[in-house]
Amino acid sequence: MKIIVAIDGPAGAGKSTIAKKLAEKLNLVFMNTGSFYRGLTLMLLRSKGADAAGSGGEKVDLKDTQAVIDFTETLSFEYSSEGLSINGENVEKYLRTDTVESIVSPVSAIPEVRRILNKKIRAVAEKTGVVCEGRDMTTVVFPDTPFKFYLDASVETRAMRRFAQGTSSLSLEEIRESIEQRDALDRNKVEGSLRIAPDAFYLDSSGLTIDEVCDIMLAEILGKGIYNGAEGSGKGC
Ligand code: DC
Repeated sequence: MKIIVAIDGPAGAGKSTIAKKLAEKLNLVFMNTGSFYRGLTLMLLRSKGADAAGSGGEKVDLKDTQAVIDFTETLSFEYSSEGLSINGENVEKYLRTDTVESIVSPVSAIPEVRRILNKKIRAVAEKTGVVCEGRDMTTVVFPDTPFKFYLDASVETRAMRRFAQGTSSLSLEEIRESIEQRDALDRNKVEGSLRIAPDAFYLDSSGLTIDEVCDIMLAEILGKGIYNGAEGSGKGC
């Protein structure tokens, strides 16, 4: 049985950075599950005539959920340490554009789309062992793993972090607004909404450095005494 470390939390809480570090420490594949939703969104945009990065096409009709579901079924997803590939193309560099960002949340709110992508996420995880992060990893996708975390941070901290990434053309205030809107959508989905699993380890990263957060989580994982494959075991992050 492969080790699965599941991390949930709102956009910009530092999940990817921390999950990547933990994966290195624990010798597991890092999996950003938002990439599956972003990749699907990119392909939907491209199917409407957008360019490779998802800009310039016609509007995607998200009200026609059946068309989105049928389209999702036609795509072949693969995930490795290089990130997400769809139909054989590594699409990582196109996943964080403003056009993808603008409709990824409503795409991810379609229940049947979630079921299709969750199957693909589980298949990857069970093959390789992962540190995965998303919105419903601890509540829906891997509720039985003993390694469950909810990583939180204030809206101000999260907006600053996204702004500092430099992948958006939006102002700090606009990023903050878009984060607040996304939080509301992520928390109010019919299926897979962002919730804190009762048995997840809760951590607010607002006043902490990346290494401090990583150290706390690593100690929690190793402290359970059921994982002994950590390369850097005892050395911290
Ligand atoms: O974590 P992220 O910002 O890359 O996620 C992109 C979008 O996908 C975001 O709106 C939340 C959604 N998502 C989801 O619904 N379920 C997941 N497991 C991961 C992301």
